[in-house]
Amino acid sequence: MARWDNCSKTSSNNEQPEQGNLSGPDVIADKSAALCCSLLLIGGCPVSAVITIDALVKKFGGVTALNEISLEIEQGELFGLLGPNGAGKTTLISILATILKQTSGTAMVCERNIEREQAKVRKCIGIVFQDPSLDEDLTGEENLDFHGRLYGLAAALRRRRIDEVLELVDLKDRKNYLVKTYSGGMRRRLEIARGLMHMPQVLFLDEPTLGLDPQTRRKIWAYIENLKEVFGTTIILTTHYMDEADQLCSRIAIIDSGRIVALDTPQNLKARLGGELLELEVSPPQERFADELVAMEGVQDVALENGRILLTVNQGEAIIPRVFQTAQTFGVAITSVSMRKPNLEDVFIELTGREIRESEVAEPTERMRILMLRRRR
Ligand SMILES: Nc1ncnc2c1ncn2[C@@H]1O[C@H](COP(=O)(O)OP(=O)(O)OP(=O)(O)O)[C@@H](O)[C@H]1O
Ligand SMILES: [Mg+2]
Repeated sequence: MARWDNCSKTSSNNEQPEQGNLSGPDVIADKSAALCCSLLLIGGCPVSAVITIDALVKKFGGVTALNEISLEIEQGELFGLLGPNGAGKTTLISILATILKQTSGTAMVCERNIEREQAKVRKCIGIVFQDPSLDEDLTGEENLDFHGRLYGLAAALRRRRIDEVLELVDLKDRKNYLVKTYSGGMRRRLEIARGLMHMPQVLFLDEPTLGLDPQTRRKIWAYIENLKEVFGTTIILTTHYMDEADQLCSRIAIIDSGRIVALDTPQNLKARLGGELLELEVSPPQERFADELVAMEGVQDVALENGRILLTVNQGEAIIPRVFQTAQTFGVAITSVSMRKPNLEDVFIELTGREIRESEVAEPTERMRILMLRRRR
């Protein structure tokens, strides 16, 4: 039988414990033991791809939800799929979780083929669905117990895991309350706990903080970071919140209309845009003044958006006085100026020509902002 307590198994065969038979010393007794295993899984064995995706395509009738997606995710990564509504995020993780069948292409999860070895894939993954899926008429503990039974966890192991996962998401004191009395944030935390009940090697979190207030979102971020730290779980998280991807993920795939348009660390993605963004509100004629700024030394890009001029610059502080000087010579008044570092939203705009938020509420073509991007001549 596979034993996780002494970490004798390597990650290369990805055998999960035979959960129905596990008890006593075969079970990870505490977080430090789990940490030992996770460290050995990562450090003692070669860090290998826990997910390999090869040219995945998914079509729903005439809609191509995924268009030739290829990707590798390594053991222990906290990987983000960032994209607007309809980008294909849920479709991708549904295929990896063997809930949906792809149209073409293939993928391996925990070194198991998603088509030929569905049961083994399901054993090694946990998933928190985008749509709520708790039983509201059961208590928190009963929901977890039910999930444990579905996975064949023995009674003693279920009790121990329930305690561990409830502690992780800070819900121990609410375990005997009906879920219908939980707040939105508590429900989300319980769903994360449920996804962890069977100690999955890979956890899919589909929009884990959707619709939650900023304070609750930050709490959930802390729980997600904690479970990666403590258990070494590989986490694949979908989100359309830029700050979430930026804060949590070691790497991000920006996905749009079923394609990966960029794949890198958050730092590298932002660094692509150069130094700083300078935002100016000026009196008319803004467009002609923007033209004037294109030639200025240190200016990388100039864009006009809703009457505001957006400059991508090196060393913004040095450029601001020269911008004012040019405005004076040109005869326009600058009424406001602000400077900030590029964020992932700026990266998305650069790559797709529109904002992530726009895509949620309207057809992109209808809401396409007036963007005049001029490269330095
Ligand atoms: N069961 C389905 N039948 C038909 N079309 C579907 C189905 N599921 C998804 N789609 C379409 O596939 C595309 C991708 O949808 P998907 O749910 O994967 O996007 P998403 O990135 O998860 O979006 P969101 O941020 O809104 O959750 C969309 O155009 C969607 O309408
Ligand atoms: Mg989705």
